[in-house]
Amino acid sequence: MAKAPSLISLCMKAVKSELLRGDYILPAIYELPSHLFDALLAFLPPLALQKLQREMPLEKLNDYDESLHDYVNYGRKRKRNGNFNAAWKSLFESRWPLYVEQIKSDDWQQIYWETHLQNCLDEAAAVASLPSFNGSLGEIKISDNILLYIGLEGGMNHSNCDYSKLSYHCLQFGYHTRCLSLQNVLCVAESCQLLRNSKLQNLVLCWIRSKEHVDGLCKLLIQNSETLTSLQFIHCKLSSSFVNAICGSLHRKSMQTHGIQHFSVHTSSFLENDPVALPPQLVSFLSSGRSLCSLKFCDDHLDRNFARMVFGILLDTSSSLSILDLSENNIAGWLSNFNRKLFSGPQPALGIHNSLQSLRLLNLRGNDLRKEDADNLRFALLCVPNLENLDISDNPIQDDGIRSLIPYFVKASERCSPLGDLKLENCELSCNGVTQLLDALSTLKKPLNSLSVADNGLGSQVAAALGKFLGTSIRVLDMGGIGLGSSGFRNLQQGIIQKSRLVKINISKNRGGTETANFLSKLLSWAPELVAVDASYNLMPVESLTVICSALKVTKSHHLRCLDLTGNTWDNQPALSSMLAEFQYNGRPILILPSLPTSEIPYDDDP
Ligand SMILES: *[C@@H]1O[C@H](CO)[C@@H](O)[C@H](O)[C@H]1NC(C)=O
Ligand SMILES: *[C@@H]1O[C@H](CO)[C@@H](O)[C@H](O)[C@H]1NC(C)=O
Ligand SMILES: *[C@@H]1O[C@H](CO)[C@@H](O)[C@H](O)[C@H]1NC(C)=O
Repeated sequence: MAKAPSLISLCMKAVKSELLRGDYILPAIYELPSHLFDALLAFLPPLALQKLQREMPLEKLNDYDESLHDYVNYGRKRKRNGNFNAAWKSLFESRWPLYVEQIKSDDWQQIYWETHLQNCLDEAAAVASLPSFNGSLGEIKISDNILLYIGLEGGMNHSNCDYSKLSYHCLQFGYHTRCLSLQNVLCVAESCQLLRNSKLQNLVLCWIRSKEHVDGLCKLLIQNSETLTSLQFIHCKLSSSFVNAICGSLHRKSMQTHGIQHFSVHTSSFLENDPVALPPQLVSFLSSGRSLCSLKFCDDHLDRNFARMVFGILLDTSSSLSILDLSENNIAGWLSNFNRKLFSGPQPALGIHNSLQSLRLLNLRGNDLRKEDADNLRFALLCVPNLENLDISDNPIQDDGIRSLIPYFVKASERCSPLGDLKLENCELSCNGVTQLLDALSTLKKPLNSLSVADNGLGSQVAAALGKFLGTSIRVLDMGGIGLGSSGFRNLQQGIIQKSRLVKINISKNRGGTETANFLSKLLSWAPELVAVDASYNLMPVESLTVICSALKVTKSHHLRCLDLTGNTWDNQPALSSMLAEFQYNGRPILILPSLPTSEIPYDDDP
């Protein structure tokens, strides 16, 4: 016989259906002793919890205030709210278990309904994309699956509102919504009505391609212009008139300008580009907002003219931007007209031209930049006196390109906020160029914090310069896929003659064989701050593992969390699992070992 339900659980069920069904809440519920009240919170589905929290009488909180000393009260009051928050968090966790780690906010009620509304809108977007859709977004039915999550069981009678329609969810929970991602079909005038209770801060727009979408979107932007701080476009096709309309809808009355801090257009294209002028509203957007701190045009088929004009406007208006990302476009030649006369005298006349004082990060990855571009960049970067992070990976600038940048790197290390992070992956560099670079970097006043020269065919000869460079205070070094080979690793190992401050190193895909392990065992004792090592795909024989493990036993690297040894063809020997158990950091294995048939993992070892 099944166990009879307890009286308490019967009561809680009754309270739950009362909360879901009716508009009236028995005041007695709020009189419950706290252990029962807390048990109730943990039991209620979202919709019921929402009602209970919303209807909580103010004087209930005040009661606590009167009966206790202030500081105690404060604790009690916080505790009650805290219990609500904990209930929301556990509801969130049970509905979106994979997502919970990413949440940074502490207001779980807000996040719960925001995510719920996003789910409803995603479902609605799928319906609204069908040819059979009759045009009324608010009428779209939300699936039973979603309704069940918030506590609505099928066939239940609910007072007088229609819980199953999108409009209910928008109007009811829009208040809690700050961030939304909207597909084009949702960018229509009706959405302004549906989302009228929201004060949106962060909008992601997908597939905006027609005037209809832009018109709808602009209405929504105007409605939220006082609160919007972040706008992101993905997979959009933006003509100049679209760009004008969008940028023109962002004005805040309270500021006489826009309040956007993050503006990003990703995997999209700008149509009908004028080679000598940007859309005027974009110009005014870029030049007027002092709040703008990150600007990303990434993978947008931008050409040199567009990039030149953007950079020119930012510079002319001394923009306070801190992040500029122009990666994955085609902007080679963008700085060819850059006026270098200003800088080429014996004493570069700093101060007489504008500069981007706040710019810290510049990403120019994947733009087919050549050595001439590197040469021009060297001068342009003099206008960016506080640049800390530069990525020019995936550009064939070659040795000549890197040679023209070396004087800049040296100068940049003398500033008070020096260049710290440099990425030069896959730049068609050779051993000569990189040796020159490393030699220069090894003597800097303020050495780099991180460097990547990965995926350049450098060969074993670069080891000498690398060894010397390891002795600077470099923290993160990526030298994966540079063709170091056994002899390179052997030389590198001999090159380590002083303590290294490395925290992360990538030596993957270098065909180092046993010498990889020898290098590693030396590094483990000379780099006490090491946290992560990627040594995967190095053709290490299984005996190497013994070398590495004995080094791990005596290692001084107490911080080591991860040593990746995948991609080496070792059979699944019983010894491997005991090693996993032996070396752990906070209960997790440090070693990442090849899983069974490694032959299935694609082996990308192109130099
Ligand atoms: C659209 O269809 C829904 C049912 O899917 C219906 O409830 C609604 O009344 C229709 N709206 C219009 C404007 O025809
Ligand atoms: C549900 O509502 C309908 C009409 O509003 C009513 O006829 C029916 O009896 C109700 N069912 C329940 C279980 O309350
Ligand atoms: C290490 O470098 C290789 C080759 O460039 C790359 O494929 C891999 O993703 C890098 N590992 C990490 C952890 O970044």
